[in-house]
Amino acid sequence: MRAIVLVGGEGTRLRPLTLCVPKAVVPVVNRPMMFYILNWLKSHGISEVVLSACYKPAMLKKVIGSSYRGMKIDYIYEASPLGTGGAVKRAEKYIDGTTVVMNGDILTSLDLSKMLKFHREKKSRATIALTPVSNPSAYGVVETGRGGNVLKFLEKPSPEEVAGKVLNINAGVYIIEPGMVALMKAGKVYSIERDIFPKFIGAGFFGFVSRNIYWMDVGTVAKYAKACRDILEGSYRVKGLETAGKGVKLGKGARAVKPFSIGAGTVVGDNSVIGELSVLGKNCIIGKNCMVERAILWDNVKIGDNCVLSDCVLAGGVKVGASSFISGETVLGEGTVLAPYSRLRG
Ligand code: GDD
Ligand code: MG
Repeated sequence: MRAIVLVGGEGTRLRPLTLCVPKAVVPVVNRPMMFYILNWLKSHGISEVVLSACYKPAMLKKVIGSSYRGMKIDYIYEASPLGTGGAVKRAEKYIDGTTVVMNGDILTSLDLSKMLKFHREKKSRATIALTPVSNPSAYGVVETGRGGNVLKFLEKPSPEEVAGKVLNINAGVYIIEPGMVALMKAGKVYSIERDIFPKFIGAGFFGFVSRNIYWMDVGTVAKYAKACRDILEGSYRVKGLETAGKGVKLGKGARAVKPFSIGAGTVVGDNSVIGELSVLGKNCIIGKNCMVERAILWDNVKIGDNCVLSDCVLAGGVKVGASSFISGETVLGEGTVLAPYSRLRG
């Protein structure tokens, strides 16, 4: 079975992290986000994946490649964004039977196989995964009837409308039949959530509700940091997580406190402490007497001696001068250079 993954967005809420890389290849605990999605799809029997790209497609292809663990990976490109619906229409030639469509920024343990069974039992034309959340205004809120038929789809309701409520939201995973794309004209911009789903109500459109699953839309820096913590702590379970890559060196008196992840070739200077829930990318250099806590460093980051880093995200190639202090959800884009004695609080 085939899955189409929408990865064309610019990831604006993840800036500056997405200024140089598309969201799908943002490293989540030292592994591109897309690899978690591909592993999940594979575990549910998907054999072919089509990535619907727009923003920084060349980098996406370079990192993800044309196959992954035996799954074939194809790409389709949009010169300018066609929206989540227009992108699905553009993938029309790949939708020749029951097809999975999903957002490319979802980390989840949702049981896709069970959802597929539900889709077939209901003879559904489109099935949407739903999960309850307590702050639903950032999502599509979906009401269903007794048999799971969708009654209402409201994309991004105002906070006042949904204040204090736990509601089922669109979890960003759909199973569709070819008929859905016939509703759209090629080359036109459509939002699947605003323009297409509401039209499906009452016409064989079902919601598949999953409770007590792991589900995260990695759309903001806060959620990105939370997803990394969840993986390290095991609340989102993933296989083959590497604690320390090849050639990692800890200097004299230096230590790392679990859970952490340190990429290959990273060197930690004497007496430095890598505190729990830290992620260091590949080939980073941490100076002497540093304290790193709950910090996420991408590849090739260099930290001078006597620095304190906590609760921050530093993209690739960032250089921090000695005796600097960075805390409070600071986020630094690729290649940022900070002078010694810098003090930053997010
Ligand atoms: N190819 C393509 N073209 N992909 C796009 C485009 C486009 O024009 N616009 C967005 N995407 C991709 C993004 O890269 C992302 O993977 C996915 O579509 C969803 O876009 P987001 O920008 O992340 O949407 P959202 O998180 O605000 O809301 C969506 O996801 C929620 C669940 O995570 C909606 O589907 C909500 O209804 C839903 O609850
Ligand atoms: Mg999203």
